[in-house]
Amino acid sequence: MISDDKLVTLEIVDLAFDGKSVAHRDGKVVFLKGGLPGETVEAEIVQNRRRYDKALVRRVIRKSEHRIEARCSHFGQCGGCTWQDLDYQQQLRFKRKQVVDCLERLGGFKEIEVAELLGVEEPFFYRNKMEFSFHVDDDGTLRLGLHERGRFDRIFDLSECYLQSELSNRIVRFMREFAVTNGIPAYNVRTHEGYLRFLVIRQAARTRQLMVNLVTNLGDFFDVDKLVTDMTAAVPEITTIIHNRTGKVSNIAVGETEEILYGPGYIEEELSGRRFQIRANSFFQTNSLQAERLYDLAFEMLDPQPGERVLDLYCGAGTIGILLADRVAEVIGVELVADAVEAARLNAQRNDIGNISFFCGHVRDFLRETPAEKLDHPTVIVDPPRAGLHPKAVKRIIEIQPEKVLYISCNPATFARDAKLFTEAGYILPVVRPVDMFPHTMHIELVGRFYRI
Ligand SMILES: C[S@@+](CC[C@H](N)C(=O)[O-])C[C@H]1O[C@@H](n2cnc3c(N)ncnc32)[C@H](O)[C@@H]1O
Repeated sequence: MISDDKLVTLEIVDLAFDGKSVAHRDGKVVFLKGGLPGETVEAEIVQNRRRYDKALVRRVIRKSEHRIEARCSHFGQCGGCTWQDLDYQQQLRFKRKQVVDCLERLGGFKEIEVAELLGVEEPFFYRNKMEFSFHVDDDGTLRLGLHERGRFDRIFDLSECYLQSELSNRIVRFMREFAVTNGIPAYNVRTHEGYLRFLVIRQAARTRQLMVNLVTNLGDFFDVDKLVTDMTAAVPEITTIIHNRTGKVSNIAVGETEEILYGPGYIEEELSGRRFQIRANSFFQTNSLQAERLYDLAFEMLDPQPGERVLDLYCGAGTIGILLADRVAEVIGVELVADAVEAARLNAQRNDIGNISFFCGHVRDFLRETPAEKLDHPTVIVDPPRAGLHPKAVKRIIEIQPEKVLYISCNPATFARDAKLFTEAGYILPVVRPVDMFPHTMHIELVGRFYRI
């Protein structure tokens, strides 16, 4: 029973960066789970902080005209999609607004043009990679699915998902049943006991090659042949099965050792007419079709010239550099993950690219160790993880005096912070182009090009 003094009527005015909605009450901001801008809701205040309150929407009193029926039965419980109940055009509008807000609030920018968000053509079944978690409930029940919204320690049993494919849903159902039938225990994130940790499924959008990567605690499966035989019989479309083992307590789906159980151990994807090998532990853009459009847009902004030397920093499996190489004089890719660099070298070779080389290590070490004269005012492309650029990396990039810096970002907040450093050092940033890679989620990708003046 909720006491009446905790129930309040609120007008939702905005959406926040983490997918919550926003209202105001007694001069304070309220962040709500549920609710869409333009709606009047009855909400329960669940946390009272000095500067803001947190609330849960209990009832929508007046609906937004942009509210739609969510397609997935797990919507609301699942941490994956936060905006499946919001019309797609409105999702784009709010994402663009968040880019503008970040640039203004965190970067102090007032004059930058923020272009319309480039939306996707297909807002469902767009992911080439999904990471499902195993979990054991207090009563010993094995679960396999996705995280409950806002809970790192709670997994619900997934029966459907519209982000990857029907095949991927089938693999999840098969694996859960196989684990239960054969008594293979799930890993417990609290006690660090148990075996099965993650099921990672990757399927290339163009070639349809399909990888299943099981990430477990240390040790062997009781009967690996049975696993492979049953899994490939249940889903014959699978082209490779991989087993990664990790004894680390950190909850990430990357193994310390890798064993190929079936097939070649990798899948291949096609982007803009080039072929790329993808391994279990290397980064690859998760929405292949939209990645092509992102790169097209990025290259149009970059305007590459035949004589340019390009540094492709945070290059992953070399995608950007490889797609750019025949338009410039030389590309040097820099990437921390050895597996990704190995894939990048192979990808360059297979695509007959002779003017690209790769450095395996930290971007800041590469920039520190490489004399500026050797780099000779290169064009710099950066595509860092969500944390953005290390301040020392920004400082060093500025020291090598590139004429152009193209920044691809998956986090408008860290982009705004880093952009401020570039503009304070004399670079100008005329336009930012946001791209939607992940419909129904709050994630935003963007591209900005800095010029030296
Ligand atoms: C957002 S991904 C970009 C990958 C690539 N540009 C692409 O489009 O496929 C970021 C990459 O940066 C790598 N990385 C993270 N920290 C790094 C660092 N300090 N130095 C070099 N690479 C790093 C990650 O392993 C990952 O491959």
